[in-house]
Amino acid sequence: MDALRIRGATRLEGTIHVGGAKNAALPILCATLLSDGQSRLRNVPRLRDIETTSALLRFLGRNAVVTSPVVEVGAATGEIRPEAPYELVRQMRASVLVLGPLVARYGRAKVSLPGGCAIGARPIDQHLKGLEALGARIRVEHGYVIAEARRLRGAEIVFDLQTVTGTENLMMAAALAKGRTTLVNCAREPEVEELARVLNRMGAHIEGAGTDTIVIGGCDELEPFDHAVIADRIEAGTFIAAVGAVGGNVLLEQAPFDDLEPVVAKLRGAGMEIEREGEHMRVARERTISPVKATTAPHPGFPTDMQAQLMAMMCVAQGQSVLTETIFENRFMHVPELCRMGARIEVHNNAAIVDGVPRLSGASVMATDLRASASLVIAGLVAEGETVVRRVYHLDRGYDRIERKLAGVGATIERFTLEGPP
Ligand code: EPU
Repeated sequence: MDALRIRGATRLEGTIHVGGAKNAALPILCATLLSDGQSRLRNVPRLRDIETTSALLRFLGRNAVVTSPVVEVGAATGEIRPEAPYELVRQMRASVLVLGPLVARYGRAKVSLPGGCAIGARPIDQHLKGLEALGARIRVEHGYVIAEARRLRGAEIVFDLQTVTGTENLMMAAALAKGRTTLVNCAREPEVEELARVLNRMGAHIEGAGTDTIVIGGCDELEPFDHAVIADRIEAGTFIAAVGAVGGNVLLEQAPFDDLEPVVAKLRGAGMEIEREGEHMRVARERTISPVKATTAPHPGFPTDMQAQLMAMMCVAQGQSVLTETIFENRFMHVPELCRMGARIEVHNNAAIVDGVPRLSGASVMATDLRASASLVIAGLVAEGETVVRRVYHLDRGYDRIERKLAGVGATIERFTLEGPP
């Protein structure tokens, strides 16, 4: 099993290229199901979740070929098997994104219920409520959702809460429904806007993506696409937090400045210098870090996907920070591991009180989910001595060879194979 060995406390200097956005690429790959032709997605990061989505598309009957950074999804040749099995959904919850496209295009979808995961219960009731409003008949049998409809029909749907993949699933379904759909209280994440851009390129009529109301004029059919995916704001944000924690001066090539506004504002408040440099971003930290108060919220609030990385940085700030998690109920799994490295953190309900210490000390720690793993890597970079991060497969779901990118700016970090139990 792979692990990362990090020798900490080296400043980061140089250039890191930010890859394509995982959470934009996943729904766009599922959108290939809305058309029969051959689609091509470029700037796709080399990640386990991309492999899993491609495996799912192949299981469904589409020939998805990953030649990083390009994924090609071949034209539909034979029968489609509109089913996402437990084995694949278990590996990646975003598999639920095939539900909308399958029922809209093929009239039937059978998708395993994802169940809970490390960061929370994560139900999909909003996806199902929306599909029902579009006319799908939905039942749950043996752990699977079965959705059927001869043709979906446009409707007005008000989400009870903002859900990113819920908004995406319904946008895709409504794109092939008969008539007009209005989605109210939508997620406004940049990845939702990006999916709408691709769907419109396929011939859909979608307005308002990026605001809380999206209007979709349904079409009879959609065309394939060729598209380069936007840059990953969370990957870029992770590198900003790494520079914030250890100090240094790094150019983040292609970092999406506008999408990162809430992160940039918070980290400037902590004492970092962050500037736009053409299409890139310059991030530096020379002074000590000031503590911050941050509460996660749907976009344009502070992203939950950056909470763990911000916490690792605040472990070495001068003073007390308060980080409040409002999106997922169990997203503090990194706290005990950070404490084993000498951090002083107390959790009270959904708030973590972080008392900055002068330095962390290297330890053997275990990754529990994707962003928690990233926070342990940042902590390892700032800690004195050696840190070993185990269960790196979590990291590989969402970061494209993070150790190479960090080594490229001076970090002492390597991947190795750990013998024995993970
Ligand atoms: N929720 C419901 N019912 C639903 C849907 C969501 O109660 O039907 C709740 C969730 O349990 C959660 C909140 O609503 O408490 C928001 O969840 P959301 O549906 O927005 O999350 P998601 O779409 O499953 C995406 C990202 C996550 C990211 C969240 C929040 C993808 C593939 N995943 O998940 O990314 O944390 O939005 O921004 O886009 C990651 O990349 O590490 C990651 C976990």
